[in-house]
Amino acid sequence: MEIIAIANQKGGVGKTTTAVNLTASLAAKRKRVLLIDLDPQGNATTGTGLDKNDLALTMADVLLDGVSLADAIVESPAGFDVIGTNRELAGIDITLMGQTNSHELLKTAMAELVADQAAGQKKPYDYIIMDCAPSLNLLTINALVATDGVIIPMQCEYYALEGLADLSQTIERLTELNPKLTIRGVVRTLFDARNTLARDVSAELQKHFGDIMYKTHIPRNIRLAEAPAHGMPVLAYERWSKGARAYQKLADEVIKQSR
Ligand SMILES: Nc1ncnc2c1ncn2[C@@H]1O[C@H](COP(=O)(O)OP(=O)(O)OP(=O)(O)O)[C@@H](O)[C@H]1O
Ligand SMILES: [Mg+2]
Repeated sequence: MEIIAIANQKGGVGKTTTAVNLTASLAAKRKRVLLIDLDPQGNATTGTGLDKNDLALTMADVLLDGVSLADAIVESPAGFDVIGTNRELAGIDITLMGQTNSHELLKTAMAELVADQAAGQKKPYDYIIMDCAPSLNLLTINALVATDGVIIPMQCEYYALEGLADLSQTIERLTELNPKLTIRGVVRTLFDARNTLARDVSAELQKHFGDIMYKTHIPRNIRLAEAPAHGMPVLAYERWSKGARAYQKLADEVIKQSR
């Protein structure tokens, strides 16, 4: 089992779109996947067709009340397992302030899930994908402490290089808390090949960070933006769209890394 966090402190770069559609694409390739929503906005939860305000158990119960991950799993209308989240998780930084183990609550919960799986009590997963909020809050720290690797969605705009350099440094610093933490890859999102600046920035990213860049560029594609309104991953909404095909290619790259 591999755990992957989808993270970038910058907002609106396609984290949730990547988390939902990468998970759906992996599931379509017969991988067993669990999507965990770690953003109180609950966009990933909604994007898989769940009603975020009508869940018996959410990540708030896991992180604040010690409910096991296994008990909070639901099968989403999208067809794969999800642990949802809503606003209840928004105050976690304040609720847990001063608690010494507050940054490793998720890691502990994951260890329990892994132990159950090894004992054959729970369905084993090939991948656990976590959608993070656009900040380095306690939830994101929990994700980065619990994860094996990070996938960074990145938009090819003027500040991308600086942003990626900052983010690499942050992740480097967090290896103190999680020695196995690595950047699994950077995926260029919302990409418009007709835009000269986007092409230039993409080339610069390739030049400076080539070894961690995924080959797949996720194009700006209206179907990707429409699908969440229907509570569906793009694969279910518009199977042959450019967006759906791009996320399938990304899933192939992610699977290849696992071998
Ligand atoms: N490739 C794409 N083509 C078109 N629209 C996209 C694409 N990727 C994301 N979007 C749209 O852009 C907006 C931001 O995307 P998304 O919610 O995935 O970003 P995010 O990084 O998760 O945002 P936040 O930081 O708020 O969590 C959404 O409206 C989404 O539907
Ligand atoms: Mg998001």
